[in-house]
Amino acid sequence: MKYETLHNISIPKIGFGCWSIGGEATARPADDERSLAALRSAAELGYRHFDTAEYYAAGHSEELLGQVVRESGLPREDFCITSKVSPKHLGYEDVLHSCENSLRRLGLDYLDLYLIHWPARGMNLSETFRALNQLVREGRVRHLGVSNFNLKLLQQSQSLSDTPLLTNQVPYSLPDRSYVENGVLAYCQENNILLTAYSPVKSRFFKGKKLAEFARSKDSTPFQIGLAWLVQQPRVITIPTSFNPDHQAENLAALDLPLSAEETAMLNGLV
Ligand SMILES: NC(=O)c1ccc[n+]([C@@H]2O[C@H](COP(=O)([O-])OP(=O)(O)OC[C@H]3O[C@@H](n4cnc5c(N)ncnc54)[C@H](OP(=O)(O)O)[C@@H]3O)[C@@H](O)[C@H]2O)c1
Repeated sequence: MKYETLHNISIPKIGFGCWSIGGEATARPADDERSLAALRSAAELGYRHFDTAEYYAAGHSEELLGQVVRESGLPREDFCITSKVSPKHLGYEDVLHSCENSLRRLGLDYLDLYLIHWPARGMNLSETFRALNQLVREGRVRHLGVSNFNLKLLQQSQSLSDTPLLTNQVPYSLPDRSYVENGVLAYCQENNILLTAYSPVKSRFFKGKKLAEFARSKDSTPFQIGLAWLVQQPRVITIPTSFNPDHQAENLAALDLPLSAEETAMLNGLV
């Protein structure tokens, strides 16, 4: 595994996204065996950062993840667990309540990373951070972050957080450079904030002919090229999701796929 290390934490460059584990907007218990199998194979393959949210499967994703972390038999400290508070729960009391519920569903006594999932219209960020800072002081959360925040909101969050803001989780992939264009990536890299790239391979772009040819020339797949391109960037980590153990293994192997400066420039120009 390769890591990004900052502010007393080492986070794997490639983690496992838990969207659709346990269901989507609602829980789908009929699929539990499939979801548990995906989490178990990920843990066995060596994934240690798992990204979930109270929104995912209405909390059921957290329940299944907690089960697999416990049954792995590995020490809690070996895992990095991220969860997120939903935009409708950004009031002071709501944040405290949401975090307690996430911890209860996960069966854990702390989260490594707790994020604001999306900004909400009319939110009072200082109230939200009053609760988030309290959770850090109480040891319920180790690090704070945000998700889907533009530059202005990111800077505001930084000034309200008592501890260094660890990440902004945003869509970022070969075909989606919106958070490069809006200045967030450069700001993160200059200010020691991780950019967690979500939906790193969810695009028809990865079925394209040119990328397939290039991937073949590197004895790899287009998905691995997309992930290798991300993780070679400083302060960028990513969290692909897959139910397929072969894909999970393939995605982790992207950590060992070097891209030269010329290859990177060619990929930058592909879209
Ligand atoms: N903060 C936010 O607002 C937000 C929003 C979206 C996502 N996220 C997080 O980011 C995580 C990842 O994003 P995502 O689920 O949207 O997209 P993604 O991980 O980029 O794409 C997932 C899709 O790609 C396929 N896939 C993955 N690896 C593959 C491979 N090696 N070969 C072929 N197909 C492959 C998967 O199918 P198979 O199962 O068949 O492999 C699945 O259909 C989520 O799980 C969630 O944790 C956060």
